[in-house]
Amino acid sequence: MNAPLPAEMLKQHLIDPEICIRCNTCEETCPVDAITHDGRNYVVDPAICNRCMACVPPCPTGSIDNWRLMLREQAYSLEDQFGWDELPLEKPSPAADMPAAAEPREPQGAAASETQAPVFAAPGSVVPPWSAAHPYVNLYAPKAPVTATVVGNFRVTDTEMGSDVHHIVLDFGKQFFPVLEGQSLGILPPGTDAQGRAHFARQYSIASPRDGERPGYNNLSLTVKRVTEDYEGKPFNGVCSNYLCDLAKGDTVQVIGPFGSSFLMPNHARANLLMICTGTGSAPMRAMTEHCRRRIGQDENGKLMLFFGARTERELPYFGPLMKLPKDFIDINLALSREPDQPKRYVQDAIVERAADVAALLADEDTYIYVCGLKGMEAGVLQALSEVAGPQWDALHAKLREQGRLHLETY
Ligand code: A2P
Repeated sequence: MNAPLPAEMLKQHLIDPEICIRCNTCEETCPVDAITHDGRNYVVDPAICNRCMACVPPCPTGSIDNWRLMLREQAYSLEDQFGWDELPLEKPSPAADMPAAAEPREPQGAAASETQAPVFAAPGSVVPPWSAAHPYVNLYAPKAPVTATVVGNFRVTDTEMGSDVHHIVLDFGKQFFPVLEGQSLGILPPGTDAQGRAHFARQYSIASPRDGERPGYNNLSLTVKRVTEDYEGKPFNGVCSNYLCDLAKGDTVQVIGPFGSSFLMPNHARANLLMICTGTGSAPMRAMTEHCRRRIGQDENGKLMLFFGARTERELPYFGPLMKLPKDFIDINLALSREPDQPKRYVQDAIVERAADVAALLADEDTYIYVCGLKGMEAGVLQALSEVAGPQWDALHAKLREQGRLHLETY
């Protein structure tokens, strides 16, 4: 056991703004609401953080795992942290003057010994499926990004509809950028923000499988929705989404990553995939489905069941290619919310409608669940799964989470 720190000392938890990709995972995970953000940085309130470590494993970049030992009265304030473009250098450790028994240890151990608060489990897994392939992460950081070339950029929603979603293909040439289905990357948009600071990286899920958008090529694809309004519906042009959607063939982009070491697919034969998504949350589902499609006939695939929510068919990314997939390969369920003359349906409604088949999948120890899309759907989907599973849901939920069989990525 580690000795507790003296009361006047603090091991302050900080987030590295240079590496952070602003994915909001830490803020969502923190059980005591110690993490918050402005338009630029994610920060940790030293008065609230109890170093329970719940936020550390889910962070895709490791930017969350920074600690500074200091006198409590010298802790960096939220204001300090909001102003940073990089972490301040470590100050000389005040521990040098402390008795040996009070020497601080590694954050993990310290967290375990110094806090009384329990570590609340996130609703989804923070570990990958047992058989997932090895993911490479953080090969390229903002200070040394890799340059990719745009080799394709086309719209995958109807041009007459409001949702402008693009399928963008990036080629990495001879550079090493290995990915697995479910991983993401960061794009560094050019230019500066209103304060004249370089834009921070934006995170996008990869929509193609591990062997490339085109098999055997060193390329990958992204599914990007052009952001033209903010969460309240007021006009707002997303910096990176507009940049990406306007790129032409031959343009180059600065890329960091790859990121993500738990939202990965099982790598053993005949595992079932239950995939639930809305809008551009379809990117990782497309990657996994395509990986499986390329091995049809090899007796490798288990059951694939997809629940996909969109406003209308015409605004559902990849509608055409999706509907051409063989029915005995994937069980597709669309949930359309704004189709004229049809009742509003969300993915959670469709899950409950297919309760018997979903229950059969949930009862199978070899089923892996992936949820990606709007934040709002997460609670609804978990509720629908609990309705389908019945009284054993709590135990099943805990098991799925522990075994890397329930992966949630919402934004
Ligand atoms: P809605 O018509 O209510 O916006 P988007 O096109 O904005 O990316 O959304 C994709 C789909 O997700 C839309 O059909 C949208 O419906 C739906 N959606 C919105 N909120 C939720 C929610 N809380 N649960 C499930 N689906 C949702």
